Amino acid sequence: MLKTKDILDEKDKRLRLVSKEVTFPLTKKDKELIDTMIKYLHDSQIEELAEKYDLRPGMGMSAIQLGVAKRLFVVVYELTGPDDEEKEFETYILINPKIISNSMEKIYVEEGEGCLSVNRPVEGIVPRYARVTMEAYDMEGRLIHVRAREDLAICFQHELDHLNGILFTDHIDPKNPFKDKDLYRGI
Ligand code: NI
Repeated sequence: MLKTKDILDEKDKRLRLVSKEVTFPLTKKDKELIDTMIKYLHDSQIEELAEKYDLRPGMGMSAIQLGVAKRLFVVVYELTGPDDEEKEFETYILINPKIISNSMEKIYVEEGEGCLSVNRPVEGIVPRYARVTMEAYDMEGRLIHVRAREDLAICFQHELDHLNGILFTDHIDPKNPFKDKDLYRGI
């Protein structure tokens, strides 16, 4: 079982690699990696499990965060609200993903973005497209298109950055973390 300590920390130089395209069919190892990532993200968002296994909650993870420089990421997105009794999730697996269209409008997370590889609070604005359409491959190697908006769109862009060796902190000017705030919409 994957633990939080197994996720590479921002100081690890491997996070700066540009990940390589995945070839199909996926290997057994690729599939196991994807399953491991999904399980972590799922469990980390279930309070009892997160506590029991000491998992830092996260909704997205890229292969490179486990030291595997392949262009794939997974997102486990909560569909339910805080008052729902049982949580429901939508799982996205994007292999060799690309943005094929985006909104003009940009947004940012008001409380700041988080990352399982960045274990410190970082304030500041990371402008992201409010809406994106991604093209990617699924686990069977079929071409898929996924549309996302708001927080899910931000998550996809954050994960895509990981595949190019970019961390969200790179987008923030430490001397002026809230630069151009009024140009974008906070969510
Ligand atoms: Ni991240």
